[in-house]
Amino acid sequence: MSGFAITLDRHIVDQERNHPEATGAFTSLLTDISLAAKIISYNVNKAGLINIVGKAGTTNIHGESQQKLDLFSDEIMIKALVHGGNLCVLASEENPDIIPVPQKYPLGKYVCCFDPLDGSSNIEANVSIGTIFSIYTRITPAGHPGTEEDLLQPGYKQICAGYVIYGSSTMMVYTTGSGVYGFTLDPTFGAFVLSHDNIKTPKKGKIYSVNESYFDYWDEGMKNYVRWAKKAVPEDGRPLSSRYIGSLVADFHRNLLYGGIFLYPADNKSPNRKKGKLRLLYEANPMAFIVEQAGGRASDGQKRILDIKPLELHQRIPLIIGSEDDVKIAEQFIQGKRTE
Ligand code: AHG
Ligand code: MN
Ligand code: MN
Repeated sequence: MSGFAITLDRHIVDQERNHPEATGAFTSLLTDISLAAKIISYNVNKAGLINIVGKAGTTNIHGESQQKLDLFSDEIMIKALVHGGNLCVLASEENPDIIPVPQKYPLGKYVCCFDPLDGSSNIEANVSIGTIFSIYTRITPAGHPGTEEDLLQPGYKQICAGYVIYGSSTMMVYTTGSGVYGFTLDPTFGAFVLSHDNIKTPKKGKIYSVNESYFDYWDEGMKNYVRWAKKAVPEDGRPLSSRYIGSLVADFHRNLLYGGIFLYPADNKSPNRKKGKLRLLYEANPMAFIVEQAGGRASDGQKRILDIKPLELHQRIPLIIGSEDDVKIAEQFIQGKRTE
C-alpha cells in the first residue's frame, strides 16, 4: 500500500471522468449519500445507547411495522439528498408516494430511490443491516419537479447503484457501470477508503441463501431446487452450505465476495407475496446492477431483473441473485427444465 488512501470522494471524481456527460452534480450527489451513510452508521453503532431502537409504532405501505431507526435513516437520507440541487424527485421504501424536492431547493437532473435501512428486523440483535440506493437520470423535461415516470425506469438505465453495510465495519459498495468498488469507513478520519478494488464475484459458489421456512408455500420448481441444493456435491466434493442472515445487504455482500446464490422467490403464503417480498426499485434493481458489474447474474427466475419495466413504486419481485452458474442452475429448476 502506497500509504496514500484512495477515498470515496477521490474515486467518484475519477469515475466521473468515465462519464463525460456527467457534471460535478453526480460527484456532489454521491458525496451527499456518503455523508448520510456516515450519520446513519454513527447512530446504528450506538443504537443500543440512545433511544433509537425498537418499534416506532407506525407501519409502512407494505404493512410492516417501522423501526425507529427505519424512520431516522429515512429522514437522514432525504435531508442529505434534497438540498444539493442534484435531484428532481426521490422515492423511499418508507414513504408511500414519491418524495418531491422542496421548492426552496434547486432541481437537478438525477432521481434516487432508496431503502434507508434494510434488514431492520435485525437491528436489536446487532446483526448487520444496510442502506441501498439507485440513481437514474430524469426522463421528464428539466425545470419541472420530477414525476413517478422518472422513477419507474427499467433497471438497465441506472447510472449508479450502491449499498452501505453497517457490520463489523461500515462499508460502501457502488458501481457506475465501470466495475464494483468497496470502501471501508475509517473512523479515525471519517472517510470511506478504497478497500475492495474492482470486485468480481466467483462464477460459482458453495453457499445457497434462502428462508426455508416458506418451503411449503413455494412452487414445485423452487422446492426441487432446494431439494437438489441440499444434496448437491459439486466436482470438488464439498457440499453446499446454507447461510441466511435475513438482511438482504448482508446476505448479498457475503455472496458477492465469497460466491453463492441468494433467493427470495414468490410464495403463496399470503396474497401480497405472489411476487415475493423484496421490492424492485430499491432492493432488486440496485443489487442486480452491482452483481452484473461484478460478473454475476440476477433474475426473477424467468427474466433478467434489469430488463423489467416497473409499474409501481413499491412493486415486489422475486429475486434470484449471485454467482452466474449458480443462478442459471436455479433458473432451470424454477422454469421446470430440471427436476433434479
Ligand atoms: P427491510 O428491512 O428493508 O424491510 O428488508 C428486509 C428484507 C431483506 O433485507 C431480507 O432479505 C428479507 O427482508 C428477509 O425477509 P424474511 O424475514 O421473510 O426472510
Ligand atoms: Mn430492505
Ligand atoms: Mn428497509
